[in-house]
Amino acid sequence: MKEEKNNESDKLMEKIVSLCKRRGFIFQGSEIYGGLAGTFDWGHFGVALKNNIKQNWWKKFVDSRRDMYGVDAAILMRQEVWQATGHVANFADPLDGKQFNTMLKTQVGAGEEAATSYLRPETAQGMFVNFKNTVDAFHPKLPFGMAQIGKAFRNEIAPRDFLFRQREFEQMEIEYFIRSEDWEKYFEYWKEEMLSWMEELGLDMAKVHELEVPDADRAHYSKRTIDFEFDFPFGRKELFGLAYRTDFDLSTHKLEYIDEDAGGKIVPHVIEPSMGVDRAVLALLVSSYTEDTKSDEVRGYLKFKPNIAPIICAVSPLLKNKSELVEYANLKVYAPLKAVFGRVAWDDNGNIGKRYRRQDEIGTPFCIVVDFDTLEDNTVTVRDRDTGEQERVKVSDLQDYIKERIS
Ligand code: GAP
Repeated sequence: MKEEKNNESDKLMEKIVSLCKRRGFIFQGSEIYGGLAGTFDWGHFGVALKNNIKQNWWKKFVDSRRDMYGVDAAILMRQEVWQATGHVANFADPLDGKQFNTMLKTQVGAGEEAATSYLRPETAQGMFVNFKNTVDAFHPKLPFGMAQIGKAFRNEIAPRDFLFRQREFEQMEIEYFIRSEDWEKYFEYWKEEMLSWMEELGLDMAKVHELEVPDADRAHYSKRTIDFEFDFPFGRKELFGLAYRTDFDLSTHKLEYIDEDAGGKIVPHVIEPSMGVDRAVLALLVSSYTEDTKSDEVRGYLKFKPNIAPIICAVSPLLKNKSELVEYANLKVYAPLKAVFGRVAWDDNGNIGKRYRRQDEIGTPFCIVVDFDTLEDNTVTVRDRDTGEQERVKVSDLQDYIKERIS
């Protein structure tokens, strides 16, 4: 029974990895030279999906709030940063009885001037080292947060499970600064915020679980951590983390804050919601991959929400060798939709059935077909990805129709 389940899970991962490659989402890094383990390159649809996820996150946690300040810090930082935070001493995994530091070391500068530096293993420190800059520039009142999306690097001993454990990946992190006595309140608050974002993204919430990380397993800076775990096909594993970092980082960097309300200097404490972009993509692929039977054929497709899908709609002339259909589809349907929505595809490859299958696999919610009736009555067929149902819509109503369906 267990073996059968493992086989099913292996098959599901194989299907997702193969779809991602075949349809231009995600490729192995340095593939034509045999691949570089723990790195992936993102193709056209993968970039679109990842950008939509990041934009959605930024909109919720930065743009729609009054208490959040964005940062985009350098990946290269002075090694003193990582000495101060304990990463040089502690950021290690066991390898044959020894501790192997998983920070990626590099050299900055040439000759005698060359200094050791590290590619950041977390985006968090880029925010802490800009705490003073942010306070001086914006004068925020507690509580407030800093947010960053960016690359992080770890020389993982055993990268595996597709996007799950990589050496180069992206994080979306928030450092939320609070008064120490409020930490439990804001820990709960951010737990709920993270859960609500996962749901909005379209993750299968039945697969999301909270794990209270025991003392012995917590990072050296954390007094409480919850891991949000996800039932990936290869097992229940960490998706995102929420940590109470106390005043560890600001104290370490000798930073403080003048609390006018309390009338003196304090070192704020920090709640840190930390979310990996790549694990978000993987969890979303697993949540969205669906199989059903259409016209006696099994179809596999990605059931993305329209606001997250790489392509919102595809436009097709019924026949690509009929110039009157192609011209109408191009000028009257594709061009105006493309100008408004951007993520619109032109698809005239193969017969209509093949186009539908292809767009289903990409996760395109709507396929629009221009046929001979269109030339007579200015209506088109709009086919729904999930139900396969088709309806006729007036060309003049198309923009409003799509807007309504994706809102
Ligand atoms: N600033 C806190 C921090 O970096 P972490 O639990 O080590 O905490 C945060 O990492 C998140 O980054 C994880 O929950 C996961 O989503 C993502 N992540 C960590 N290591 C990763 C790796 N090797 N490959 C892909 N994503 C990773």
